[in-house]
Amino acid sequence: MVLVCKTGGAGDDERWKEELRRLMPDLEIRDWPDIGDPAETEFVLLFHSAPGLFEGMTGLRAVLSAGAGVDGFLGDLPAGVPAARLVDPWMQTAMAAWAVHAVLHFARNMPAYAAQQARGVWREQFEAYFEPRRVGILGCGEIGRRTGGALADLGFRVSGWTRTPRDLDGLENLHGAEGLDAMLAGSEFLVCLLPLTPGTEGLLDARRLAQLPEGAFFVNASRGRVVVQRDLLTALDSGRLGGAWLDVAEPEPLPPGDPLWRHPRVRITPHVAGVTNPVTSAALVAENIRRARAGEPLTHPVDRNRGY
Ligand code: GLV
Repeated sequence: MVLVCKTGGAGDDERWKEELRRLMPDLEIRDWPDIGDPAETEFVLLFHSAPGLFEGMTGLRAVLSAGAGVDGFLGDLPAGVPAARLVDPWMQTAMAAWAVHAVLHFARNMPAYAAQQARGVWREQFEAYFEPRRVGILGCGEIGRRTGGALADLGFRVSGWTRTPRDLDGLENLHGAEGLDAMLAGSEFLVCLLPLTPGTEGLLDARRLAQLPEGAFFVNASRGRVVVQRDLLTALDSGRLGGAWLDVAEPEPLPPGDPLWRHPRVRITPHVAGVTNPVTSAALVAENIRRARAGEPLTHPVDRNRGY
């Protein structure tokens, strides 16, 4: 059984192969692009597609995502071939921890204290908050619920936005277009965890960013293209937004001259909020390979119409 691997950007390549070989000793792993006869490929494990990647793969049984998001290959997915998302509790925990850290960074005035330290200033930034502060989570799948739950435990008032109504394990749910308006108007901290789909691309434009309360903070661990980056920059420049922590950008890497790099209100990390851990993820991929071979439905199947 042949698996073509192109995991770049979603976990350590060598570790992926090591774990998969351990779990499936009869698996023959071929590294893209040295894949021999493409007709022998039964499975593809990937994060980002490449031109012609699926060409000649006439025996393809399933495509497995090496990352949480499937936007990197969905457009190239051959018709009729099932694909699965990677839903790894390890990654959910990692992303929730990252997002909580980003929210706390702004909520507890860390930028101001860093600036004070640089000048040797010991001065309390008075935190005039007598009620729970409000966080809106855009995108409340497994990762969003985990993040929202953690922030609620830390005393924030959290609401989660979804396309359609959802039970969010005790978090307030806002949904649809009206729900989005309400969420933006009420979010002092907006955490974006949406998948990139035709419906979410450019969702956060100037008009929507202007719906946030004055001085709100924006945290993005989804995809750069969910926000119109020049509109974000304008909102930051004017002080309309109090700050942003961006783990994702468009393009990636963010070009060296991009004004976001040196913006005083912006923190940037290079797409590290939830890096795939092959040690925990390989077992999930192996299970889907087993299912595909047994003719069983995949876990966490990609819904092409929904876009993730
Ligand atoms: C990271 O962005 C992922 O989709 O896993």
